[in-house]
Amino acid sequence: MKFLFGTILVIIITAASFLEKPNPAFPLIPDGVKLNGAAVNDSSLKEAYRNDFLIGTALNASQIEGKDENAARLIPVQFNSITAENIMKCEVIQPGWNKYNFDLADKFVEYGQKHKMFIVGHTLIWHSQLSPFVKNIRNSDSLLLFMTNHINTVAGRYAGKVNSWDVVNEALNEDGSLRNSIFLEKLGEGYIRMAFELAAKAAPNTELYYNDYNIEQPAKRAGAIALIKKLKEAGVRIDGVGIQGHWSIQGPSLKDIENSIQEYSALGLKVSFTELDLTCLPNPWDLKGSDVNQNFEGSALMNPYPHGLPDSLQVKLAKCYEDLFKIFIKYKDKIERITFWGVNDGQSWLNNWPIKGRTNYPLLFDRNFKQKPAFGKVMALKDKQ
Ligand code: G3I
Repeated sequence: MKFLFGTILVIIITAASFLEKPNPAFPLIPDGVKLNGAAVNDSSLKEAYRNDFLIGTALNASQIEGKDENAARLIPVQFNSITAENIMKCEVIQPGWNKYNFDLADKFVEYGQKHKMFIVGHTLIWHSQLSPFVKNIRNSDSLLLFMTNHINTVAGRYAGKVNSWDVVNEALNEDGSLRNSIFLEKLGEGYIRMAFELAAKAAPNTELYYNDYNIEQPAKRAGAIALIKKLKEAGVRIDGVGIQGHWSIQGPSLKDIENSIQEYSALGLKVSFTELDLTCLPNPWDLKGSDVNQNFEGSALMNPYPHGLPDSLQVKLAKCYEDLFKIFIKYKDKIERITFWGVNDGQSWLNNWPIKGRTNYPLLFDRNFKQKPAFGKVMALKDKQ
């Protein structure tokens, strides 16, 4: 009898301890709770970080149009800032001379306004994803005319609605020198200053950012700092710098990230991490002696986890995000926004770059919109405070 009582007592105590102590790193929230739209504060990134910085995501066309039902339920619960992943780029928004396509961009802005989100326009001047007519411009006057009309029309249309513009995107090489582009070639280095001046005029109340990848790396960072200093010395308004944050679970250098936050903010700029994701896959450039142009599509070596990320890597990814967010929290007074480049793993551009058709795991939500262990780690940092 005594033994029976003892056994029952042990079972009750064990069960109670499980009920009372959910592991904060792996929240025991049943599937579907967030997806049903309930505002579960203790599982919302934007709520957890509301006193620190904005938490954003990049939206694709189907999310903007509300065609993706699960995303539609999750996005407003988790994020308070949105960036247009592709639909404000030149090739979409201005397909020809005097020909603009504002359909999706208008919907994007309406979406952000409806959910009271901080709206980021991406991007006004970028060498990539230009419309064919721009690539075919042969003289500098015409290119200047394009740039002036483009910025006046696009930034002007959303003045007072878009909160922040990536005015110039990716103008630097890895060594910090200016990237050779149609803009540099035809307008000289002054094109960057002109772009910021035009944007400041067209959207006087919108924040103006310079946005680039790898600008946490020392050489490229030095180039970015020199560029920003020149703009400031010329009296041009620039409000922030966007460190894109396309990194990997091999770990970006945390020291470089910390130094970057300190150095950019010392220039009087806001710092944002604008396109955060961490690839979990090998990349062809790491293969010694391999030809980068070799076709790796369909190669099992380059797509090692088509059916799910192994636990060890899931833990590695979570630790990497935890380390990053520890730094973000430490410098929260200097950081305006952390934006993830996509909502869930299935929607990430990293499934198709640098090799098409792979299965990557770079974000905090999995392909079924479920929170990953990395989400738990990011949330748990706030529990501890
Ligand atoms: O829209 C067409 C579709 O009509 C067509 O059927 C399909 C066929 O491939 O392509 C679709 O366009 C793709 C587009 O994304 C929209 O999905 C392009 O091929 C594809 O190249 C394009 O990739 C985008 C990439 O920028 C282009 O450079 C990614 O989605 C987008 O995430 C990525 O974002 C950039 C940032 O703007 C700047 N920083 C780097 C970042 C990652 O590359």
